[in-house]
Amino acid sequence: MNFGRNDECWCKSGQKYKKCHMEFDEKLRKLRNQGHIVPPRNIIKNQEQIDGIKKSAQINDGVLDLVAKQIKAGMSTAEIDKLVYDYTVSHGAIPAPLNYQGFPKSVCTSINDEVCHGIPSEDIILKDGDIVNVDVSTIYNGYYSDASRMFIIGEASEEAKRLVEVSREALRRGVEAAKPWGYLGDIGEAVQEYVEANGYSVVRDFGGHGVGIQFHEDPFVAHVGKRGEGMVLVPGMVFTIEPMVNQGAYHIFVDADNDWTALTEDGSLSAQWEHTVLITETGVEILAK
Ligand code: MF3
Ligand code: CO
Repeated sequence: MNFGRNDECWCKSGQKYKKCHMEFDEKLRKLRNQGHIVPPRNIIKNQEQIDGIKKSAQINDGVLDLVAKQIKAGMSTAEIDKLVYDYTVSHGAIPAPLNYQGFPKSVCTSINDEVCHGIPSEDIILKDGDIVNVDVSTIYNGYYSDASRMFIIGEASEEAKRLVEVSREALRRGVEAAKPWGYLGDIGEAVQEYVEANGYSVVRDFGGHGVGIQFHEDPFVAHVGKRGEGMVLVPGMVFTIEPMVNQGAYHIFVDADNDWTALTEDGSLSAQWEHTVLITETGVEILAK
């Protein structure tokens, strides 16, 4: 759609197009003509949507803070699921994983060689030395947020602790590489370079994703890549960065018993941290952590 200079801007800011997104659209048009991949308008969030996602993210952060306080050896992952469900619902929100494409629980809990999408169970008991990813996603007032953290149960091996630290720093570097008018490949390269320099590998089969109006939107955010390649990043884009880092090879397989849980093919450990981020006019803002 084309907008007249004096029409109200498509972002619903209430400002005239010429004062709002006109220059922005012109910049994107030029980049597209130069052969770059540019974001479609429907994944660029306006202020009202950003405010909604921020409120969802506050609840999502609250869930993870609660899990951080309670998680311990001897606890089942079903107990974590209950904590997540109860906190979320009591704050007027919905756990996004519950019934999402048939997922049976409110949160993903992935232990040791599980890469992601672990399903909480009364039969899975956390034990000393485990490393656990708890991946929480929240819908509040229709807006989605998504974040995950690693937890070390009791005393883990030096190697497990190093993997958890490297995956955390990989996310930090990915976020740092995200800039308005930069490229998705800037994020991928920053993560991949750091992870591989530490002797680990980056999972290819899963990545980050646009988020906010739906659970999974465009773009797919690869955690490998080349600087200057992939979709252009512009203010108003909201997506996750969530590198999965394997101690061994990056290959994974999905558990045939439940069709969800991904594990490392070689049985090595895997770790992951995830933020939901917003590209702003001047940089990047972490919305859910
Ligand atoms: N939270 C996961 C992500 O980061 C998605 C989980 S889908 C589910 O994208 F159904 F397993 F919850
Ligand atoms: Co995600």
